Amino acid sequence: MNYSKIVGTGGYLPEKILTNADLEKIIDTTDEWIRERSGIAQRHIAADHETSSSMAEQAALRALAAANLKPTDIDLIIVGTVTPDKVFPSTACLLQERLGTGKCIAFDVNAVCSGFIYAFSIADQFIRTGAVKTALVIGSETLTRMLNWNDRSTCVLFGDGAGAVIMQAANEPGVYSTHLHADGRYKDLLHVPSLLAMQRTPDEEPFLQMEGREVFKIAVTELGNLVDETLAKNNIPQSAIDWLIPHQANKRIIMATAKKLGLAEERVIITVAEHANTSAASVPLALDAGIKDGRIKQGDLLLLEAFGGGLTWGSALVRY
Ligand code: UT7
Repeated sequence: MNYSKIVGTGGYLPEKILTNADLEKIIDTTDEWIRERSGIAQRHIAADHETSSSMAEQAALRALAAANLKPTDIDLIIVGTVTPDKVFPSTACLLQERLGTGKCIAFDVNAVCSGFIYAFSIADQFIRTGAVKTALVIGSETLTRMLNWNDRSTCVLFGDGAGAVIMQAANEPGVYSTHLHADGRYKDLLHVPSLLAMQRTPDEEPFLQMEGREVFKIAVTELGNLVDETLAKNNIPQSAIDWLIPHQANKRIIMATAKKLGLAEERVIITVAEHANTSAASVPLALDAGIKDGRIKQGDLLLLEAFGGGLTWGSALVRY
């Protein structure tokens, strides 16, 4: 059992929907601008009683049901999130208690929008070494609580949600390879200053800030490089990929990566219009959407990728 494979997925989106038309009423923006520049039409907003751990619980229960497993089967929980319920304990520990898994390994990963891919790669290593048999990997975010609703350049772009994947040991891949990158020199292009006033400069506010145009350019370049790296590592042509499951920040970035892969839009799972950018939750939510609606079938070859604050980026090549 030298490999890991995906045995179940689940997603959760809060009930409340905020459309572009709703945003037109509160800030100086238009539905046309948001759709044209980002591809977003609406986003889900967590209710007051919801948190990253409560949404993660819903996504995890759906993934467990899809895998036909019980919470007590889980040996490892990793949650990718930058919006934990608390500074500590980790959202993974809160989720462990909610699910009643027993005393399994549980920790969070902060790699911003790449958090799920980082968590997925770590879980793959745990399973390959034989340290654990069954892992629950989650991306869960309430990023809309970190937005400045007066900043039209950022507040129109994000949404809340959670996606979950169960991975298990297998004799055949499953996961062929994962590729993780980070470049801290770009730390100021996309960041949220400390929530503690003493750790902020007087001109800083504890809201998400982004140099969108700069992030866009680096994302297109590095995601293109990542496609080359992933294909080369596995010695496969572009045509071997059945589905691209990208991070859902901007449809123009998604289609640039699809072009690099020679993939038509019909072979890309795109949820950005309905979900907006849900940070670490976006890739598992898109994967779950593609599986649940029957587009992704057993045996399909998937390329998962993400890009986000850090800057960080990463990919995974997976046989479903
Ligand atoms: O998930 C983490 C990674 N994040 C990303 O990958 C996001 C990367 N960046 C992007 O997706 C795009 O850069 C944005 C969608 C954020 C912005 O699109 P853009 O085509 O790069 O627009 P821009 O920032 O260059 O702004 C163009 C114009 C500006 O006006 P001027 O200076 O040309 O007069 C902005 O003030 O659009 C204006 N603008 C808006 N107008 C209406 C900015 N935000 C809005 C808005 N509504 N919400």
